Amino acid sequence: MFGKRQSFGGNTPGAAEPPRPQPSAPSSLPAVPAARPVDVPKPVVDASLNRLRSDDIVDVRSAEAIQRDKEYFQTKSAIFNALIDSIDLSQLATMDQEAAREEIRDIVAEIIALKSIVMSISEQEDLLEDICNDVLGYGPLEPLLARDDIADIMVNGSQKCYIEVGGKVKLTNVRFRDDSHLMNVCQRIVSQVGRRVDESSPICDARLPDGSRVNVIAPPLAIDGAALTIRKFKKDKLTLQQLVKYNSISPEGAEVLRILGRVRANVLISGGTGSGKTTLLNCLTAFIEKDERVITCEDSAELQLQQPHVVRLETRPPNLEGEGEITMRDLVKNCLRMRPERIIVGEVRGPEAFDLLQAMNTGHDGSMGTLHANSPREALSRLESMITMGGYSLPSRTIREMITSSIDVIVQAARLRDGSRRITHISEVLGMEGEVIVTQDIFLYDILGEDSGGNLIGRHRSTGITKPQFTERARYFNEEANLVEALEKSNVEQHSLLNN
Ligand SMILES: Nc1ncnc2c1ncn2[C@@H]1O[C@H](COP(=O)(O)OP(=O)(O)O)[C@@H](O)[C@H]1O
Ligand SMILES: [Mg+2]
Repeated sequence: MFGKRQSFGGNTPGAAEPPRPQPSAPSSLPAVPAARPVDVPKPVVDASLNRLRSDDIVDVRSAEAIQRDKEYFQTKSAIFNALIDSIDLSQLATMDQEAAREEIRDIVAEIIALKSIVMSISEQEDLLEDICNDVLGYGPLEPLLARDDIADIMVNGSQKCYIEVGGKVKLTNVRFRDDSHLMNVCQRIVSQVGRRVDESSPICDARLPDGSRVNVIAPPLAIDGAALTIRKFKKDKLTLQQLVKYNSISPEGAEVLRILGRVRANVLISGGTGSGKTTLLNCLTAFIEKDERVITCEDSAELQLQQPHVVRLETRPPNLEGEGEITMRDLVKNCLRMRPERIIVGEVRGPEAFDLLQAMNTGHDGSMGTLHANSPREALSRLESMITMGGYSLPSRTIREMITSSIDVIVQAARLRDGSRRITHISEVLGMEGEVIVTQDIFLYDILGEDSGGNLIGRHRSTGITKPQFTERARYFNEEANLVEALEKSNVEQHSLLNN
């Protein structure tokens, strides 16, 4: 008996089928590009110029600073308006970056001279940079966008901009001139993907050319001015080794995750927003064999699979007329006709849950997805309600049976209150007992206390189960010994018994 499903090899072609096309020289194949293809050229900002006060983050401004800012904005507005009057913006857009910058530099210098504004060279440089960013780029956001250590940028109206660095949210002193300045930047971002944001369509999702995800919600829905949220695209995704280094998982836990990826277990990654679900999914995909045909479905392409045989699919929002939307469900359904061996769904949020479970259940072993929930149990009930809300009138028992026969393991990611990200559970879905789904924790993170700096102290441990249900699978892929070793090694109770 092989766990719940009979086949381990995915839908490996039978003898009658033509042989699977082998990539002739995998090493010479181009790697999956790190960032999305650039559709709209992003203004290139010279990093050395990014000294725009984004590094010295302050939490409270003094009255003096506020006054200084106000004067600065007034001067800048005056120069900016004069600039707009004297140049043809559409022509500027056709010029290359450097030429456009030079053009602006010349005109601004002229305006400053004409208006006899008193300014030091460095003030003038700062001002010029600000103006170039406004005209050619994303305004005050440019310095933040250029930084690689920022995970999220959150703009709440024109005067407040928060960033997340190292798991902690901080207020920056990046500000917009006023609400219309902020709206202009929002508009510039969303117009690149052919969308519009204004009072009549105040909610908009978009993406920056570098792959960062953007959400804008404008007044009147956002009461205190437009709210702009950017999830920065990380070019270098974290690897499982790095997660171990950051103590997000113990080396043994990482070994269990590696085995899960390798033995084609169906895995659901659960976690809150920004808890590291996508990162974890990306790590797990590293253990997919080179010759497997993998299809990924995402709302915006974030995963970076290194295998040669990958088809990447992306959903599409409706256009301005409200037409042409392609949902996640459409993609997952279509996937099934593309002879996938594994299907990877970036984020399961709706009725596509049903199709993903079906895929997992019909020979696409090793399929994976992420889902928003705070515990493995909650993940299961979320999955059930997604299917119910998708309009399938199935009895809940049937849905639960479908879930148990599809999902092997749930991995829970969490962002703890000290800002650290941890993998808190690796739990197995065992089966049904009456009406209830039975799960079993294999790996857990215990919080033991807090140090003087407010950082949580904890440890990862296995729960003492050394023969999880996927042991059969591990044996089939010749990983059983590794699995048993990893689980025994991290069984804390057993260790303390041995030591006493
Ligand atoms: N274990 C981790 N340690 C430190 N940073 C992490 C970890 N996992 C993810 N991150 C960072 O957190 C941010 C959000 O991660 P992501 O995987 O996109 O979250 P989610 O998909 O859950 O919203 C990213 O910038 C990512 O690099
Ligand atoms: Mg994600």
